[in-house]
Amino acid sequence: MQHDLFNKNPGATSDTTRSVQEQLLRLKEQIRHHDFLYYVKDRPEISDGEYDRLFRELVELERAHPELVTSDSPTQRIGAPPLDELGKVQHQRPMLSLDSLVDPADVLAFDQRMKRELETDQVEYTVEPKFDGLSVELVYDQGSFVQGSTRGDGTTGEDVTINLRTIRSLPLQLQSSAHPPAHLVVRGEVYMRLDDFHALNRRMTEQGDDAFANPRNAAAGSLRQLDSHITADRPLVVTCYEVMAMDGPPPSSHWDELEALAMWGLPVSSLRRRCETIDAVMAFHRKTEQRRDNLPYEIDGVVVKVNRRDWQKQLGAKSRSPRWTIAYKFAPRKEITVVQDIVVSVGRTGTLTPLALLRPVEVGGVTISRATLHNADEVARKDIRVGDSVKVERAGDVIPAIAERVSVPGETRSAPFAMPNRCPVCRSAVAREGAYVYCTGQAACPAQLKGAIEHFASKSALNIEGLGKKTVAQLVGQGLVQDLADLYQLSRVQLLRLEGFAERSSTLLLNAIARSKRVSLDRFLMGLGIRQVGQHIAKVLAREFGSLDAIMSADQDRFQTIQEIGPEISASLVSYFQENSNRRVINRLQKLGLSIEEIPAAQIGAPSPFAGRSFVFTGGLAGLSRGEAKTLVERLGATVSSSVSKKTACVVAGVDPGSKLDQARKLGVMILSEDEFLQLIKKQTGT
Ligand code: IVH
Repeated sequence: MQHDLFNKNPGATSDTTRSVQEQLLRLKEQIRHHDFLYYVKDRPEISDGEYDRLFRELVELERAHPELVTSDSPTQRIGAPPLDELGKVQHQRPMLSLDSLVDPADVLAFDQRMKRELETDQVEYTVEPKFDGLSVELVYDQGSFVQGSTRGDGTTGEDVTINLRTIRSLPLQLQSSAHPPAHLVVRGEVYMRLDDFHALNRRMTEQGDDAFANPRNAAAGSLRQLDSHITADRPLVVTCYEVMAMDGPPPSSHWDELEALAMWGLPVSSLRRRCETIDAVMAFHRKTEQRRDNLPYEIDGVVVKVNRRDWQKQLGAKSRSPRWTIAYKFAPRKEITVVQDIVVSVGRTGTLTPLALLRPVEVGGVTISRATLHNADEVARKDIRVGDSVKVERAGDVIPAIAERVSVPGETRSAPFAMPNRCPVCRSAVAREGAYVYCTGQAACPAQLKGAIEHFASKSALNIEGLGKKTVAQLVGQGLVQDLADLYQLSRVQLLRLEGFAERSSTLLLNAIARSKRVSLDRFLMGLGIRQVGQHIAKVLAREFGSLDAIMSADQDRFQTIQEIGPEISASLVSYFQENSNRRVINRLQKLGLSIEEIPAAQIGAPSPFAGRSFVFTGGLAGLSRGEAKTLVERLGATVSSSVSKKTACVVAGVDPGSKLDQARKLGVMILSEDEFLQLIKKQTGT
């Protein structure tokens, strides 16, 4: 499709433009509809694959017709230039807070107070989960999302519009068929799902960044970024729960308000309920607390709201919080217990992780007997020693962590914890890299061997189906596999001796192993589990070198000639391939029939579609200097030129563009806005 980019027909008739416009409209509408089904209705009607296909179709069509791209297109969520600081937003109405109650007696008293003040004997409530994230105000004008801000001090918040735009569950356009109000201000919560939070933390630690303490901090840190590209990379979600202001009469109850929000296409909680009595509220609270650990996100209570809007108005607000609503919180999930021992576990790449063994304690209904201490620096920072009393924290299914040490007057403390000098699994020497300590034993260390095999067999590497954690543990435990190559020498007889293996499962596994013998170079490289060489770098290496031999004989200088590869990755590559045991395993793998598909000579070092072409800038750029823009262009193997010719790859038009833009139009050269240019760079270079 890249091709189309350059062959844009400057003389396109307006008929074609119209039909393209119609096609674009149809695609955008379809994508919006499926986003709605997925995020609001929680009832997708098409597969992820089909959705991706629609999205790609839109991207390609827009790329061929950049002049027809609109800001509410689903493709335009990312791309705004970084800011120097977040602007301030004055909220139209104060964003109040909630009074929190924990004791059921206080909740019953709240109901009594409501009845007394409203002079009635029955009050209906709407109940919903209390999401543990950060509150935002979203403004829609004529159905389009125009501004979003954080709560801040309740009166003034921070403008995070461009960051909110990157959140897929936030509609950029409301459902026009449901006739939303011309002006609508909505309040909602931005948060992160637990699985996404864990994956993000893993990614952060791998990159050497600090992990977030909990999903809420992760959500707040991600939303309050100056560079929306970072936010776009963070898995945030939003749920709406209040109409703050709107044109026309608002719905007459909170329940109807939530229904209206949903109708207009905004995501609302599917766990919302109407309760006719306070007993029903209490039951909802109990049930939700029980379900809490099975929810994919963190909630810390339920919010109880008087349903009728006229009653809400009558009850009014105190300075910080309305009188008609409360947060009925769950029992706290921090408990105090004692560290009975600190042990050290060894992961796939040999990283040693200290783990506290605790006197079992119940936190939020779950018994906890161990907690991760992350790394030696963390243990030192929190100064946790065997015998200490500590506060244990649990957030949903988050691996329990020690929040802090609790000092006990008169206690005698044991010696500070120190990481061992030898690997607790294989006794090899340990080495240190920043905050991390790792075992140097590599494949001789059973812990690392298991990890290495699991990684080798994983989906994005050799994709050996049926070779999961349990089987790998059996194979290593029985001494059947001592290195990756041994996998290809396994026999049916050996497998049949393993617990849980019968004829059929043995055949399936052997077939899967046999199938993996034909593998692309990048998957193979990725599967080797070389430190710092993930999917992307493996692809870069494969494209650059074309064959394993070429990679194995390259030196540090050669690796460093490659754009994406710096000194750390090249050092890691060279030391991996210098190691005799690694070379031996690779050699044996090939002898045992593993055939690594090489890249055809013509495609080696395949230049980017922009290589050798030129970019021309006209007008002012908002988010980057000309020097920065030039560096980005050079990353594509292209150059910056000052005049437009037929050879120009594209003209980037900023604010107040000059005659170069007319020239580009005349020659039919592709024209990009600054945002589109940044997107293109991101797409081509992955940065
Ligand atoms: S209603 C004036 N509903 O909890 C009432 N708030 O501790 C507006 N929160 O600042 C809030 N889930 O950020 C409401 N379903 C929900 C909520 C919710 C989470 C947050 C909100 C508020 C905080 C108060």
